[in-house]
Amino acid sequence: MAKKKSKSAKDANLYYPIDSIVQNANVKEYENLYKKSIKDVEGFWAEQANTLDWYKKWDKVLDDSKKPFYKWFKGAKTNIVQNAIDRHLKTWRRNKIAFIWEGEPGDVKVFSYHALNREVTKFANILKSMGVKKRDIVTIYMPQIPELAFAMLACAKIGAAHSVVYGGFSVEALAERIADAQSRVLVTADGGWRRGKVNDLKGIVNEAISRSPTIEACITVKRTGHEVFMENDRDFWYHDLASLPIANSKCETEVMDAEDMLFILYTSGTTGKPKGLVHTHGGYSVYTSTTHRMVFDIKDEDRWWCAADPGWITGHSYIVYAPLINGSTIMMYEGAPNHPYPNRWWQMVEKYGITILYTSPTAIRGLMRFGDQWPKRHDISSLRLLGSVGEPINPEAWKWYHSVIGDNKCPIMDTWWQTETGGFMITPLPITPLKPGSGTKPFFGIEADVVNEEGKTVKPGEEGKLIIKNPWPGMARTVMGDPKRYVDTYWKDYKEQGWYKAGDSARIDKDGYFWIIGRIDDVIKVSGYRLGTAEIESALVSHPQVAEAAAIALPHELKGNAIHAYVILKAGLVGDAALDKSLRDHVGHEMGPIAKPESITFVDSLPKTRSGKIMRRVLKARAQGLPEGDLSTIEE
Ligand code: PRX
Repeated sequence: MAKKKSKSAKDANLYYPIDSIVQNANVKEYENLYKKSIKDVEGFWAEQANTLDWYKKWDKVLDDSKKPFYKWFKGAKTNIVQNAIDRHLKTWRRNKIAFIWEGEPGDVKVFSYHALNREVTKFANILKSMGVKKRDIVTIYMPQIPELAFAMLACAKIGAAHSVVYGGFSVEALAERIADAQSRVLVTADGGWRRGKVNDLKGIVNEAISRSPTIEACITVKRTGHEVFMENDRDFWYHDLASLPIANSKCETEVMDAEDMLFILYTSGTTGKPKGLVHTHGGYSVYTSTTHRMVFDIKDEDRWWCAADPGWITGHSYIVYAPLINGSTIMMYEGAPNHPYPNRWWQMVEKYGITILYTSPTAIRGLMRFGDQWPKRHDISSLRLLGSVGEPINPEAWKWYHSVIGDNKCPIMDTWWQTETGGFMITPLPITPLKPGSGTKPFFGIEADVVNEEGKTVKPGEEGKLIIKNPWPGMARTVMGDPKRYVDTYWKDYKEQGWYKAGDSARIDKDGYFWIIGRIDDVIKVSGYRLGTAEIESALVSHPQVAEAAAIALPHELKGNAIHAYVILKAGLVGDAALDKSLRDHVGHEMGPIAKPESITFVDSLPKTRSGKIMRRVLKARAQGLPEGDLSTIEE
């Protein structure tokens, strides 16, 4: 697929990989392999699954008898920990570094696979001693510290599911997710470091627990040492529990069905409360490890750094599970990229000899803004591959990343995927000629297309809806407790064809390259973080002075999108600067700082349809001075 070209070779609009990348790539060819994988999807995934350990292999690769509730590797027995830890202990990798972790203040911890197993086993026994059983859901709300990964793996090891809530979320967001998961046990920390300050997670937890009657026990890891309130008989310090005899390093990994739940992860949707998407042990293990190995060309000598937060799907799949299954050495960093100076990341790339860096366009734009002198201070020549995820990357940021960080020699893997998909769906391989801003082509076994309302493929270059035509092992199996919502959200629009609707608009160019444009529903991507307009609006309306609210996204140079809110106050109230601040702070307190609106406009009415739905597209068009489109259905 890749033509022979010299370093940084590019023609009019294609960037070709350098020779050494092509020669050493794990996957050396795309087109034929892709065709083969689509012709025999089950065969392709069976071949990948055979590279993993199983307690018992499957009777059937794909069971599609209850579409769209697909089942993968039916009849197989496994546990993701069997592949992420246990199998490595039997090989030389027992002594390989699994995690290198650096805290924001500069403290460092390193864990071999042997040490990782010890820590996970200890944590597993502690959870068991708290009464956690197979199929319980443990909520985890933590900063980016190694114990976050240990807690996730400990749950998996004993057959419990985890629900990780992003540490940047706040009281109501956490309470709502605990309530939906009906968690009895919560794992947290006394705080984490961010820009030199302590993020008071335990304070938020205490307030959230007061709204969460299901929580019986809360385990707190001491990270910052600042004073926190601990309630008798409910709150336990992790280090106290770890010193008890029960916290020993003997614990069998629970044998699970391939389709048993591994975790739920909440994600924002169009309406109401967030959806808990369910991922499973078997298919997810196969899908994440295969995509990671092939797309990022994983070699044993690599040092892999996915600079996302483990609290989002990117962290679940590509900080914790896939790299561990592939036996990689993983870098994990606690804090902000520009603290204390904008060279922090580059310093760590140099210090640890990072070979692959995977991050978001927002982070790239944020670091680019400080200028080339910061990365140029460091020897970052260990980098071999780069990656981008979470939002479309603008060509300017892509080119900076490619030339200044990648020295024109590191291909950029712009991976399109979602919480729902479990792993990469549209992505280059290291051998793929690249176009800045395009995720290029579908991964093996994935049939993607861009279609109109009727399901007809649109012409090259035309915008349409992104759909996936066939199932894949990493797909979310359902929305926890609400299978109808799963069907309605993803499978209803193209029911006849049986296609998955991604919720993004996209176009395909004449070379078959995919270009993601953005969300077509009421999901807002702020700095690559996924938020629902409904959640932001409900946080605003929970303020005593607000009657109604609408939130929209408008383009933002750094964050990709920023939130703008329109608020109708209760009768007789008048908006002013103090109320503006109070509302923004209130959203920050309920949802988290990332959800704080950039601006608030006080209005007397909102454009609505006759059925009472807020027409956010009208607000958006008006704010941007664009045509407002068809207004015939407007009521107010
Ligand atoms: O809009 C797409 C955008 O992020 C959405 C999924 O968000 P989330 O579930 O939080 O998962 C993010 C990390 C996988 C998608 O519907 N998105 C994700 N990756 C890209 C992207 N948009 C453009 N380019 C990408 N590479």
